[in-house]
Amino acid sequence: MKILAINGSHRKGRNTAELLNIVLEEAAALGATTELLELSDMNIELCAACNTCLGQCQCSITDDMAIVEEKLLAADGILLGSPVYWVNVTTLMKNFMDRTRYLHIYRNVLDGKVGAALTTAGLLYGGQETTLKIMESFLQFQGLYVVDCRNPNEPIKAPILAGSLMEGFKDERVIWRRNATDDQLIVASCKQLARNMVKLIRQLNK
Ligand SMILES: Cc1cc2nc3c(=O)[nH]c(=O)nc-3n(C[C@H](O)[C@H](O)[C@H](O)COP(=O)(O)O)c2cc1C
Repeated sequence: MKILAINGSHRKGRNTAELLNIVLEEAAALGATTELLELSDMNIELCAACNTCLGQCQCSITDDMAIVEEKLLAADGILLGSPVYWVNVTTLMKNFMDRTRYLHIYRNVLDGKVGAALTTAGLLYGGQETTLKIMESFLQFQGLYVVDCRNPNEPIKAPILAGSLMEGFKDERVIWRRNATDDQLIVASCKQLARNMVKLIRQLNK
């Protein structure tokens, strides 16, 4: 079982990568082979909107998207991570999404895989829900079964996987966290997300 995490953060190895790594570590402990792909390491050009992909399962641009495609095809589970940039995914994540059009529009190549997404932001209510929904909708359009971080056997704690650097507000002052991983709830949610991904992949591969 392979789980590929794709980080859309423009800062390699920071908060978004740390959260993705928690998911991957838990998945690895459950037997998955895992990989974190940093989009900031890839040379992926902008979609040219040439519409080549309307008539065939191919993109007219030759660049690192070929490497990403190989990893996407080999994965049983695809986990997207993006920090919130202007109540949206980052430019890197959006560009990745645009460039996968050829995997979706002629034939849904990634159909039947398991998908999940997580996000983190500066503020407590900084646009996480919208950003998460954008990634989950993308995964659904690509034909993936999207799981969330709910433990079905426990009372609900966090319905969405949305971190923040802002911890709260007290006595007219904002209380900041050093890292998004300082939030125990989001760490627990990352681990549950991994369990839900692994469980569904196993069920689908029976
Ligand atoms: C261009 C830009 C736009 C941002 N927009 C938002 C925003 O709309 N809401 C928010 O709460 N934080 C926003 N942030 C803060 C980031 O979401 C936050 O710093 C996040 O932790 C970055 O993740 P990283 O550590 O993986 O880079 C923005 C940051 C940048 C650079």
